[in-house]
Amino acid sequence: MRVLLAGATGAIGRQLVPALTDAGHHVVAIIRDPGNRDRVKVLGGESIVADVMNREQLLRAVDGISADAVMHQATALRGASPRLRTDDPTNALRSIGTTHLLEAAQVVGAGRFVTQSLITGYGYLDHGDRELTEEDPFGQPRGTYGDPVVEGCRSTEEQVLKADGIALRYGMFYGPHAFSDTFADLMRKHLPILPAGDSGSTSWIHVADAAGATVAALERGRSGQAYNVVDDTPITWGQFAATVAAAHHTPRPKAMPRWLLRLSAPYLACLMADTSMRVSHAKATRELGWTPSHPSIHEGLRGTEK
Ligand SMILES: NC(=O)c1ccc[n+]([C@@H]2O[C@H](COP(=O)([O-])OP(=O)(O)OC[C@H]3O[C@@H](n4cnc5c(N)ncnc54)[C@H](OP(=O)(O)O)[C@@H]3O)[C@@H](O)[C@H]2O)c1
Repeated sequence: MRVLLAGATGAIGRQLVPALTDAGHHVVAIIRDPGNRDRVKVLGGESIVADVMNREQLLRAVDGISADAVMHQATALRGASPRLRTDDPTNALRSIGTTHLLEAAQVVGAGRFVTQSLITGYGYLDHGDRELTEEDPFGQPRGTYGDPVVEGCRSTEEQVLKADGIALRYGMFYGPHAFSDTFADLMRKHLPILPAGDSGSTSWIHVADAAGATVAALERGRSGQAYNVVDDTPITWGQFAATVAAAHHTPRPKAMPRWLLRLSAPYLACLMADTSMRVSHAKATRELGWTPSHPSIHEGLRGTEK
């Protein structure tokens, strides 16, 4: 398939371009900076230049192009503020960016559309020990600080599923250029990033496994369906930090009193102290024939030590 991909230069995009080309697909990346053309070429794709948030520019850039599928993997999460802004750029990419990319899909004649969603769309709260499946309520405000992120996930999913596309609810990304690298950098700077006491837990996914699931969804996903893409082993943030510290040879993380974390980095408090979730990938395994090659972060970070 010819795949028009937004987000090719990001943490998942860098894995996804070679995964798609290895599977025999052809990637046309939508990049903002023409300086990234060579990077995409090395990964195996070609590029067109457009900002997904600029509708006219995007539609001009795709005019005359044909593609079988469009993938939305664009976020503005890197270096995002620990305080959610009302005009959060990732939310805008999930709402308005999705609208623009769905229009672009019509222009290029794409019959498939895959969008990035997140397991935190199940809500920033303690979900207990039961594994969450795609049948559980998703994208519903819960009166918590993370609600705007939930709303962003709801928006992209609602638009894409209505258009018979597919939504992938990824776990927290770790691996090259992903969250584990960011965390390792913070620990090297001795920054207190964990909530004191027991931290919450969540499900994770290595970015290479996320890319593998995305290719499987493109090829075998059912139209109008959402799939959880997580590994087999949910862990607490304390366990995550300890595993990353060991793999990256950084100092062990310092903890911050909860009240201070809530005051200085309310989004992180909401994510790491208030939220606990175990998520099941059974549907992706059943319907896409996909299983994570790294069942836990312990295996996934082994051999990637810096
Ligand atoms: N499930 C998760 O835990 C999860 C999910 C997403 C992200 N994250 C974390 O957030 C960090 C970032 O990962 P990521 O792959 O989402 O983001 P990323 O590595 O920052 O990449 C974002 C991608 O979106 C593109 N992009 C952003 N705005 C755009 C626009 N207006 N038009 C076109 N393209 C645009 C970027 O292109 P440019 O090269 O032009 O910037 C880049 O290719 C990582 O640490 C990751 O772990 C975590």
